[in-house]
Amino acid sequence: MTVPEIRRVGVVGLGAMGAGIAQLAIEAGFEIVGREVSAELGAKAHDRIAHFLQRKVDKEQMGAPERERALGALSLTTDLADLADCDLVIEAIVEDLGPKLELFRALEEIVRPDAILATNTSALSVTEIAAAVSTPERVVGMHFFNPAPLMPLVEIVRAQLSSDEAVEAAVTVGEKLGKRPIRCHDTPGFVVNRVLIPLLNDCLRVLDEARVSPEDLDTAMTAGAGWPMGPCTLVDLVGIDVHVHASEALYEKLREPRIAPPARIVAMKNAGLLGRKSGRGFYRYD
Ligand code: CAA
Repeated sequence: MTVPEIRRVGVVGLGAMGAGIAQLAIEAGFEIVGREVSAELGAKAHDRIAHFLQRKVDKEQMGAPERERALGALSLTTDLADLADCDLVIEAIVEDLGPKLELFRALEEIVRPDAILATNTSALSVTEIAAAVSTPERVVGMHFFNPAPLMPLVEIVRAQLSSDEAVEAAVTVGEKLGKRPIRCHDTPGFVVNRVLIPLLNDCLRVLDEARVSPEDLDTAMTAGAGWPMGPCTLVDLVGIDVHVHASEALYEKLREPRIAPPARIVAMKNAGLLGRKSGRGFYRYD
């Protein structure tokens, strides 16, 4: 397949990950069309991006005119049809297969036949998502890490039928975004989550086994293993619901007991303790 030069990028879903990806892309000079299901959610994402870019201006990491230019490159919509001219669309919606399949089917009807379709899924199969469309060669995974503007890695995931051209175009976009892309195949959890999810769940089990407090567990892993943030702080950042869901999805595929979410964290999810986004998880956030 011939891939167009990528200038205009659609981002579908502007939650923490989608907004972070959109921020990176406008900073890197791409034109962005961000799609949310309501104007309110779109405005919330715009405010979040404007806030973080203002912090960069305050810290003299970016000029004020550059911030204005970047924000001017971000257009918001609730209508998927506005993504028609995009050269690449990155999906960052809810981590459920059904809605993703529905979205990819709709996108195939809207975008040009040579546009690339990428998913930011962290625990679902890119091949299963690609099966929704009649042109799976243009579908790849572009898996960013939370917080997307700060974490240097992006995993470029080759699904069963992805073309070389689509994979390499995604790598080039990752580089233009200032990331360090790696290429990998579509196996459960790809590279990082295959290692990190069981590891985090081991950490959470140690809370009960060693009767250690979340604060002391975090100190153990930052001061004793050199992690940039402790496991409880990290799970609060990622979102307890997101972590439980990713653990369950990976466990369903690999059936290794270490991957299953510990009962303690499932109970936290059920109680609405979702971490930073709900104001309370292992820690409180005011
Ligand atoms: N979006 C955009 N900008 C952000 C941001 C966000 N979410 N969070 C912070 N920033 C900006 C802020 O403006 C901040 O500056 P101010 O506080 O002065 O406003 C600036 O970035 C620097 O932030 P920090 O001081 O918090 O940065 P730090 O040097 O302490 O590093 C960190 C923060 C990069 C998150 C570091 O602690 C780290 O590497 N933690 C580990 C994170 C990690 O492991 N992530 C992977 C999670 S797993 C995953 O994502 C997989 C999955 O599929 C779920």
